[in-house]
Amino acid sequence: MVNWWWERETRDAKKRVNNYQNVALVVGVTGIVGNSLAEILPLSDTPGGPWKVYGVARRPQPTWNADHPIHYIQCDVTDPNQTRDKLSKLSDITHIFYVTWTNKPTELENCDSNGRMLKNVLEAVIPHAPNLQHVCLQTGLKHYIGSFEFLGKVRPHETPFHEDLPRLVTPNFYYTQEDILMAEVEKKEGLTWSVHRPGLIFGFSPYSLMNVISGLCAYAAMCKHEDKPLKFLGTRAAWDSSWDASDADLIAEHQIWAAVDPNAKNQAFNCSNGDIIKWKHMWKVLAEQFDVEYEEFEDDDGDGDSRLRLVEEMKDKSEVWDEIVRQNGLVPTKFEDVGCWWFVVAYFGYSETEKIVSMNKSKEHGFVGFRNLKTSFIYWIDKLKANKIVP
Ligand SMILES: NC(=O)c1ccc[n+]([C@@H]2O[C@H](COP(=O)([O-])OP(=O)(O)OC[C@H]3O[C@@H](n4cnc5c(N)ncnc54)[C@H](OP(=O)(O)O)[C@@H]3O)[C@@H](O)[C@H]2O)c1
Repeated sequence: MVNWWWERETRDAKKRVNNYQNVALVVGVTGIVGNSLAEILPLSDTPGGPWKVYGVARRPQPTWNADHPIHYIQCDVTDPNQTRDKLSKLSDITHIFYVTWTNKPTELENCDSNGRMLKNVLEAVIPHAPNLQHVCLQTGLKHYIGSFEFLGKVRPHETPFHEDLPRLVTPNFYYTQEDILMAEVEKKEGLTWSVHRPGLIFGFSPYSLMNVISGLCAYAAMCKHEDKPLKFLGTRAAWDSSWDASDADLIAEHQIWAAVDPNAKNQAFNCSNGDIIKWKHMWKVLAEQFDVEYEEFEDDDGDGDSRLRLVEEMKDKSEVWDEIVRQNGLVPTKFEDVGCWWFVVAYFGYSETEKIVSMNKSKEHGFVGFRNLKTSFIYWIDKLKANKIVP
């Protein structure tokens, strides 16, 4: 990565080899960004390091996360008593990385549940961790376009999205979380915060609620297995328009930067790769990774949307997936977990033309990390293959 700040800080981290410099609590440690934080934070040359890392999730630690040298804590942060019991005793925490969420049927319910989860964590840690310095909260670009429930029902901001745009007048759990974050950090003098707003995330975790890469890989593997061409899953707008994405490792680096650099305190930042591409160019790349034929966008019924009835079609395929898993010696997974079909359908069903993000604010504050989008796409596909999640 071409980033003078990261290079200078990593040199300093290498000099401090013996004692922990900082202690991280990663809430959502097996998620799409949580897993990257669990991998990057413990490295000997990570800025602010050496880091001791506590990682929280509900399920037992999966094999693909177990090599990271972290203290794994099973805890459901929707439960305030359990959260207090398990997290308030971690009195050495210096930084919180909040990278989790829950998905409810309505956005008002999302505001309620996601607000409570964040509050439970902050109330359990802030009064009991005397050296707590900073809280990173990950939200996303729905800050500018509206929640899933209101997509297409509220007028989104025009791109490029920049951090100073006002909130949309609609319920959004990201706004609720920001308000809770501001109110809670006020309770401890000197405690700082940062909000990170990625777009579509390219990353690894098979436990993520929204992992477009694993969904596309599962779909491509299914096409290959059934000897069918890889048809495009979305609308004409999704095929033609320019878009950006956010690499999970880059988001982790962005959060670590904000956690330790004084220039980044008490700010919200977009976080994207800083590269632009179109699915009409990437579909071929996906097909090549699975050695499968692909089709250009074709409008089957003339309504501008040739989307497969994906959720419908895939719902009967779990036994075929089990067979693919057996044949290829893969880690056993549920097809719907790897597929994230609801999210793939929502993502590829959009009708607006572009989702371009400004990274000026991050650059002006000192973070100049970036990722080549095509390289990032292939990197995460390779990682899913190497970990035997997809063939
Ligand atoms: N994924 C994307 O493409 C994307 C894009 C833009 C913005 N965002 C935003 O980023 C934020 C974080 O989402 P993410 O996608 O990074 O998360 P994610 O990949 O879905 O991971 C969630 C993590 O939290 C854990 N978890 C879930 N519920 C929990 C609970 N009640 N108690 C403790 N741990 C819990 C999960 O493990 P267990 O299930 O085992 O508990 C997992 O480790 C959200 O606000 C999301 O909207 C995501």
